Amino acid sequence: MGRADIPGPRGARETLGALRGLTSDPCPTLDALVARHGATFAVGGGPLTMAVVGDPAHLAPLLAMSTDTFKWGHRFNVLGFIVGPGSMIVSDGDDHRRRRGATQPGFARRRLDGWMPLIVAATDRLIDETLLATSRPVDLYPHGRTLVRRIVVHVLFGDALGERADELGAILEPAMTYGVQPALRQLPHPLPYTRRAHAREALRAADRIIYEEIERRLRPRADEQSDVLDTLITSGLLKSEIRDQTITLIAAGYDTTASGFAWMVLRAAREPAIWAKLRAEADTVFADDVDASTLRRLTYAEAVVRESLRLHPPGVFSPRQAERAVQLGDFPVKKGTMILWSPYVSGRLPDVWKDPLEFRPARFLDADPRQQAAIDGAWLPFGRGPRACIGFALAQMELTLALARLAQRVDISFTRRAVPRPVGMIVNRPEGGIPATVTRRT
Ligand code: HEM
Repeated sequence: MGRADIPGPRGARETLGALRGLTSDPCPTLDALVARHGATFAVGGGPLTMAVVGDPAHLAPLLAMSTDTFKWGHRFNVLGFIVGPGSMIVSDGDDHRRRRGATQPGFARRRLDGWMPLIVAATDRLIDETLLATSRPVDLYPHGRTLVRRIVVHVLFGDALGERADELGAILEPAMTYGVQPALRQLPHPLPYTRRAHAREALRAADRIIYEEIERRLRPRADEQSDVLDTLITSGLLKSEIRDQTITLIAAGYDTTASGFAWMVLRAAREPAIWAKLRAEADTVFADDVDASTLRRLTYAEAVVRESLRLHPPGVFSPRQAERAVQLGDFPVKKGTMILWSPYVSGRLPDVWKDPLEFRPARFLDADPRQQAAIDGAWLPFGRGPRACIGFALAQMELTLALARLAQRVDISFTRRAVPRPVGMIVNRPEGGIPATVTRRT
């Protein structure tokens, strides 16, 4: 960005402070920088300029631009180690279009509708086997991760590997926890006995399972499945590309959705009026069999999910590098600039959201057309445009159904009252997890 034209911290001390804050404790740092410089600002200078974009007037053109304007396979994208060089998430240009295009039909609406019963059943299993199996407080954060993992593995691999979701999850765990560390902790090295070495071994073990399943499906067989892996296998991608998209979908949909789950349960269950409304709606909707209409009828639960993702988007910002100079409103962005666009910033702007720090799901239900247009421009937890989240409909469906089912079946009381701080760089989660006592509804 032309540093003369864009606000932001000046001088070495302020700049280093901002960089340190953004890379170690991004949410409060963003709050402070936005209050001082506005919702779009730049940090650093020359080839090391970073532009944080949170103003909806800049986000709209940014997210609509052709993908060839930016690069995702840039030097700070350390994800390639986990997801593989053939993953759509680290690809650009035609490679990206081909890989994303091959995966997209796996998430068609018709498919999604068919997954609803399995999501409700997975939530019931968590409630019955885990949450109600003890009267002691439990930490809902790891249990949310288990739920999300079971669902995503089932959706990707169908019944065959769905049964092995916990095994596959346990195998992959060292790789997933490694992958959500700050980029600086993920610098490549070949040293044994390190977290990177454990992650590498975990990926090799998961690869064996995935390649075995790919080979099994390439042989003539009776059990035609309509899961995402079958979509990938019939897409014409190379076997290594199929593996890379598979790991990508597990990795991209895992900690993100688990973080969304944690914040959502925390926010909804601490407000008795919200929990009661969720319960009343769920009682009506789940009185009928779960089918394609179920999600559409859970309008209040959907608003709660949207409100939670507004205040706590799992990805505080998403990076892309400018491949050429672009203009965002009045701001010229130079080629090479790292752009961090932020749904966290746009989700808390007082000129879009009345009382932005208040948790008020009804804002998604009672907006007039003018407010609705502002909401549409600023509610961006899944991004928008050609690089938007490929799993957004699945994630929203998982969160909405799981929330409604929990509200219908259990009461949750938290062992602490305050809303925890967010921790985690790539994906944020509540500090200290969400310790809670879960009991059958009274
Ligand atoms: C609450 C949960 C989730 C959130 C908040 C979320 C958010 C995002 C965001 C912000 C992006 C990047 C957009 C950009 O760079 O401009 C993204 C990309 C992506 N997400 Fe999600 N995501 C979630 C769940 C999922 C799930 C469940 C899946 C798959 C099963 C998934 C798969 C992907 C993939 C493959 C991409 C890369 C798309 C591309 O490069 O074209 N995500 N997601």
